Amino acid sequence: MTFSAILGTGRYLPQRVITNAELARTVDTSDEWIRSRTGIRQRYVAAENESTCDMAEQAALQAITASALAPADLDLIIVATSTPDLIYPSTACLLQKRLGIRNGGAAFDVQAVCSGFIYAASIADQFIRSGAARRALIVGADANSKILDWTDRSTCVLFGDGAGAVILGAAESPGIYVTRLHADGHYADLLQVPSGVSRPSADAHIRMHGSEVFKFAVNIMGELVGETLGVAGFDAADVDWLIPHQANERIITATARKLGLALERVIITVGEHGNTSAASIPLALDTGIRDGRIKRGELLLLEAVGGGFTWGSLLVRY
Ligand code: UT7
Repeated sequence: MTFSAILGTGRYLPQRVITNAELARTVDTSDEWIRSRTGIRQRYVAAENESTCDMAEQAALQAITASALAPADLDLIIVATSTPDLIYPSTACLLQKRLGIRNGGAAFDVQAVCSGFIYAASIADQFIRSGAARRALIVGADANSKILDWTDRSTCVLFGDGAGAVILGAAESPGIYVTRLHADGHYADLLQVPSGVSRPSADAHIRMHGSEVFKFAVNIMGELVGETLGVAGFDAADVDWLIPHQANERIITATARKLGLALERVIITVGEHGNTSAASIPLALDTGIRDGRIKRGELLLLEAVGGGFTWGSLLVRY
């Protein structure tokens, strides 16, 4: 049997940091409110001429180096993003060109908002398990700052920009045990950017009913972790690290409590990065690996919920 294993990870965060105190000078908010409601202390914001593909490229190059591979070894590229450089070609095709790959394997984007990385990883896992690909680059990258209404205090304090990348390769043992993907489009109104190509509107900004999203997220994440472990035949006690989507520290804490997992076993980056949508899980994963907390052989549970609503999880032995 073939499984997908994590060969390497990488990340990119833009140079510019915006602190809560700086935001409090332009909108009616405070460092105290943002920290106590979300855990966020600061966020990184892309430069005016810096795009999602620019960030994805840096994260991808780091992941390729960490995997000791060459770009030509990759036969699948999936970019999870809700802020693509262009309507088309996909950011994945633009990235493939930046990496100098000619006549390569499949390259495409996945749009599942904050669950995008889990969706992309699940798709790559199915390519690898079936033999359709052997080495996949998966990138979660979002330039949320470009679709924020910087006068809306209920959203502009929450999000940040960045990119995280993971290379998955075919292996004889897990690797990924299981992925779970879900969606329910009936919740579309609760978190959206209400403009698009075939239905454009003047309001192309993130709009969110925060407390409804919060309640849904807490409930569904609690259910999802149980479902994932049950399908894979593991107990909560087997999990070494929870690597959750980084939207709100209170949602993360509630999920850890549900699992009975001490907060010391949870990778939390929301304080430094804010909510970076599709980039949040691979950034957190890379953080835990590079600072030495996550070690080879440990069992990792990744989970996310986002606009759609979409939600999903991935259980992997690193
Ligand atoms: O990544 C996809 C998933 N996204 C999420 O998971 C986000 C989920 N939602 C949340 O994290 C939280 O709901 C928020 C952090 C967005 C808000 O926290 P909350 O405890 O649910 O607050 P709330 O929306 O119920 O608002 C409470 C009060 C309101 O004032 P009134 O109506 O009680 O007078 C808001 O106007 O806080 C006010 N408020 C603010 N005050 C200061 C909202 N934003 C701010 C702000 N600064 N930035």
